[in-house]
Amino acid sequence: MSEYHIIGGRRLSGQLSIYGGKNAVLPILAATVLNRGISVIHNCPMISDTLVAINILKAIGAEVKTDGNSITVDSSKVDNLTIPDNFVREMRSSIIFLGGMLGRFGKVRIAYPGGCELGTRPIDLHLSGLRQLGAEVTEGGELVSAEAKRLIGARIHLNFPSVGATENLMLAAVLAKGQTIISNAAKEPEIIDLQKFLRAMGAKVSGAGTDIITIDGVSIQDLHEAEHKTMPDRIVAGTYLCAAAVTGGELLLDNIIPEHLHPITSKLTETGCDIKYDGSSVYLKAPEKLNPIERLRTHPHPGFPTDAQPQFMALLAHAQGMSIVEEKLFEARNKHIPELIRMGADIVLLEDGTTSIIRGVKKLKGSNVVCKDLRGGAALIIAGLAAEGNTIVKNSSFVERGYVRIEEDLRKIGAGILHVK
Ligand code: EPZ
Repeated sequence: MSEYHIIGGRRLSGQLSIYGGKNAVLPILAATVLNRGISVIHNCPMISDTLVAINILKAIGAEVKTDGNSITVDSSKVDNLTIPDNFVREMRSSIIFLGGMLGRFGKVRIAYPGGCELGTRPIDLHLSGLRQLGAEVTEGGELVSAEAKRLIGARIHLNFPSVGATENLMLAAVLAKGQTIISNAAKEPEIIDLQKFLRAMGAKVSGAGTDIITIDGVSIQDLHEAEHKTMPDRIVAGTYLCAAAVTGGELLLDNIIPEHLHPITSKLTETGCDIKYDGSSVYLKAPEKLNPIERLRTHPHPGFPTDAQPQFMALLAHAQGMSIVEEKLFEARNKHIPELIRMGADIVLLEDGTTSIIRGVKKLKGSNVVCKDLRGGAALIIAGLAAEGNTIVKNSSFVERGYVRIEEDLRKIGAGILHVK
């Protein structure tokens, strides 16, 4: 069981460069099955989730080579239409392979992705969308299988702007006959990045970033080799900004896209941080004392991202006053709360399971805590950096799913942190 060992109380200061986004590269790797040829994806974060996606591509018959942060996929020989169960268990977002596989081969089988640390994580919107495109979808307990001679474009309205469902349906629609319009589509920046890659291979997709995405079906002959540079990881950037803010420090981040970070930096400004953007960089200077935030509610983009909620809560645990945090997207994204309380945080999670009342304390106490999910683990690291004394964060493998050697980046800006494997 690997752990992070953290010496608390050091003020972070310095400069970091942000690498490619996990939630951008995963759907893009799933999309490489469409073009029956070579795709080269640059600026990929070599985290464990990326390695799972690479293993899935290899398991279905694609040839995959990596060179530094570039991944080359040759999907011409893909011939296995079943996504192996073990990968789905390891990474539930493997479901993102459904749409592209169905679109290209007319048939796909995948283990039903169970819930995870964040809650049940249903896929009803994915499956109902595929049915509206003419797929025969059967859900037999452990397995989901989908078949379609050829998918037919349709108007699909999502009851909820699900990121994964939007991405899956975009991929399924690329080779469908006719036009597909997805309304109430997710507007996350990762959807725009996926559209960019799909267009690079010759697909006809438009509207990403708005709630109406239009895909005009093409034939597989129209698709060709593609090259793409993955957008930077806005959640990694937000995590580092919270770490600098909670330690009273300052931080310059390069390789960011300002509009991706506005939902997070606008809340950091409310806590008293001084934020300055300059091209593809953002600078943060922490205040002497952090202000609380009256109400922080997670919401689909461009609202405050749920993936930054735990990290921000670790920040508010040190603010001077009371804050309210409402987690509206995942019913179980609160496993970091008991661990923060072990460190002396004053947090009450109301019966609704989504609203937390946080009363800031002067200093948290360094403690032994256990990470229960990816972003909760990042929150515990942030709390440990600001705490008095030393903290051990156990189960660090969760954090390695979404951060490339987080301890190295944090040490670069003055943190006392060791990754003990
Ligand atoms: C993506 O998950 C991200 N993962 C998540 O990041 C992120 O938290 C989430 O989007 C929201 O932004 C990847 O991109 C790999 P959703 P996804 O479908 O697609 C409900 C991280 O930490 N829903 O937008 O699974 C669902 O239960 C991860 O990097 C349905 O009800 O998120 C949830 O309440 C965690 N039916 C809400 O929608 C469905 O068919 C948002 O889920 C699908 C989703």
